[in-house]
Amino acid sequence: MATYLVTGGCGFIGSHLADNLIEAGHRVVILDDLSTGKTENAPKSAEVIIGDAVDPTVVEKAFKGIDGCFHLAAVASVERSNEAWAETHKVNITATVNIFEAAKEKKLPVVYTSSAAVYGDHTEMPLSESMMPRPLTAYGADKYSCELHGRVAWMTHQIPTAGARPFNIYGPRQDPKSPYSGVISIFADRMLAGKPYRINGDGKQTRDFVYVQDIVRVFMALMAQLDEGCAVYNVCTGKETSIAQLADTMERLCDYKGEREYGPARLGDARASVGTNALLKEAIGFVPQTPLEEGLKHTLNWLRQEG
Ligand code: NAD
Ligand code: UD1
Repeated sequence: MATYLVTGGCGFIGSHLADNLIEAGHRVVILDDLSTGKTENAPKSAEVIIGDAVDPTVVEKAFKGIDGCFHLAAVASVERSNEAWAETHKVNITATVNIFEAAKEKKLPVVYTSSAAVYGDHTEMPLSESMMPRPLTAYGADKYSCELHGRVAWMTHQIPTAGARPFNIYGPRQDPKSPYSGVISIFADRMLAGKPYRINGDGKQTRDFVYVQDIVRVFMALMAQLDEGCAVYNVCTGKETSIAQLADTMERLCDYKGEREYGPARLGDARASVGTNALLKEAIGFVPQTPLEEGLKHTLNWLRQEG
């Protein structure tokens, strides 16, 4: 059994990862500045350090006694990166470089979170790791840069790194109240309250939605075999859903009879996004287990209980 640092462990994905690590018998240390995360998301037996991963001394302290790091702390909102370029850049890059720097001396393995946003305006689907990244947003550019630093970490400092390029993750604990949250939690929050919700643009833009428990399995499997290299993997289902189709399904599941509004398309919004997970399947035998409608039902049940 090992001790793992989970940065961003009070957030949506990080807290599910922390739960699963503890269930598997590991010790978990969390570093989180609570900018979007909440302490109540963290498992009770985890050690929680409240601090900013942009500060190298904070990161160095959090690395004491760990065997490996899962790095998830970031400003996860593409929209926020449009509004606050320099501020989000600081978190999304500097914190990542701090993590690699802290891992350097003992060459500790790091599994870090990139994003499908690195693909940007590719039109040929499905998106595959062999394609050259073409980010459209500061968020996507910073995540691509994390991958480049992940490569430096291995090639020059022999820190084993694995980068996950998650597509659109959803599930319980994705904050329904934040305007910067994911589309599913925003729609669900509005629909369950019987309030109007808004589609940005024509709703024909597509996404590949992955249930949170599926990505947690990926993170854990990547860490379990991480002793060399700097590979980067899509984490996706290979199923493409338009935002309008998503809205139709969710309206049905919520029995929603309210209004659907249409607003302007979001700046730098990818028009299509669906990936192939062949590389990840080859590496860890990954097969996504939760179909969209089932994952939506879990998410809606959680929200009904929370609300
Ligand atoms: P989230 O906002 O719920 O989690 C991010 C966590 O990081 C929060 O708890 C926040 O408080 C913390 N954090 C932010 N800045 C920090 C800092 N400077 N120091 C310490 N902690 C800090 O978002 P999430 O959806 O759980 O995203 C987790 C990771 O996965 C992020 O790196 C995000 O970019 C990436 N990702 C998410 C998705 C998705 O669809 N949700 C898809 C691809 C990649
Ligand atoms: C999401 C993640 C990002 C991740 C990326 C990977 C969040 C907040 N963002 O970005 O961290 O790296 O996937 O693919 O989880 N939309 C509406 N109405 C709304 C909200 C959104 O129509 O009220 C639309 C958006 O314009 C977009 C789509 O829904 O076309 C998805 O938006 P969003 O959930 O913010 O995700 P991404 O931008 O794809």
